[in-house]
Amino acid sequence: MSRTLCIANQKGGVGKTTTAINLASGLAMSGSQILLIDLDPQCNATSGIGCKPVGRHPLLEQVPIRQNAVDTNCEGLQLLPGSRSFKDVDLLARDVGSVCERVVSQLESGTGLYDFVVMDCPPSLGALTQTALACSDEVLMPIQCEYFAMEGLTQMIELVREVIRTKNNALEFGGILLTMYDAELELTVEVDQQVRDFFGEIVFDTVIPRDVNISEAPSHGQNIMDYSPRSRGCRSYIELCMEVLERD
Ligand SMILES: Nc1ncnc2c1ncn2[C@@H]1O[C@H](COP(=O)(O)OP(=O)(O)OP(=O)(O)O)[C@@H](O)[C@H]1O
Ligand SMILES: [Mg+2]
Repeated sequence: MSRTLCIANQKGGVGKTTTAINLASGLAMSGSQILLIDLDPQCNATSGIGCKPVGRHPLLEQVPIRQNAVDTNCEGLQLLPGSRSFKDVDLLARDVGSVCERVVSQLESGTGLYDFVVMDCPPSLGALTQTALACSDEVLMPIQCEYFAMEGLTQMIELVREVIRTKNNALEFGGILLTMYDAELELTVEVDQQVRDFFGEIVFDTVIPRDVNISEAPSHGQNIMDYSPRSRGCRSYIELCMEVLERD
């Protein structure tokens, strides 16, 4: 059985794609077979691991997922590339219900060979994110430790509850991840405290520090483990992978 994790938060720039790439890569390095699905028309997950967006979104094609999955420079990690086509975004988003059915059946027919499927979502509460939530076992929410973080999170959690109620009652909160963490900033420490007081155990013990190596890696098409194996960022993403594996 594969585990499908979707990385979502409607706030932009909180580290969704960075987490999708490095979690997927780290899990692959631990010996698992991973499929990373890029659902965001920005296609950052695709270019960030050194691949190219495609003209037609693979989830819209009536062929098994495996056929459109491409190898990456990380062993064990395959990618279903994103598409920048407006038409495809529209098609994927227009009818959440039927797209979901197709995606779920494609995932079932195509992902038996993967241990984990990781989906990178766009920064929105819209149909693409809803599609991803409806096909996932768990949702992982990265948040940046700043003033508006909690507000965004509340909306996201409402959407997750709605999807659980109406579309996918197997969906679980996989965890909240604090990103771009700077322990020297009072605000970071305050948000950390607040989020843990409010959400308790679902917050990952691991925090991802602000680390320039993490932001440089995708411009080389690499994950943080390959780009800078001795960095704090690398260590933190490996820790995150271990927590995700332990939470099974
Ligand atoms: N821990 C970190 N330390 C330093 N820079 C980071 C870190 N995590 C992410 N970044 C940088 O912050 C920016 C936003 O990150 P990322 O693209 O992962 O966010 P996102 O939530 O996927 O954004 P979007 O909502 O646009 O999809 C990127 O330039 C990324 O390289
Ligand atoms: Mg992104």
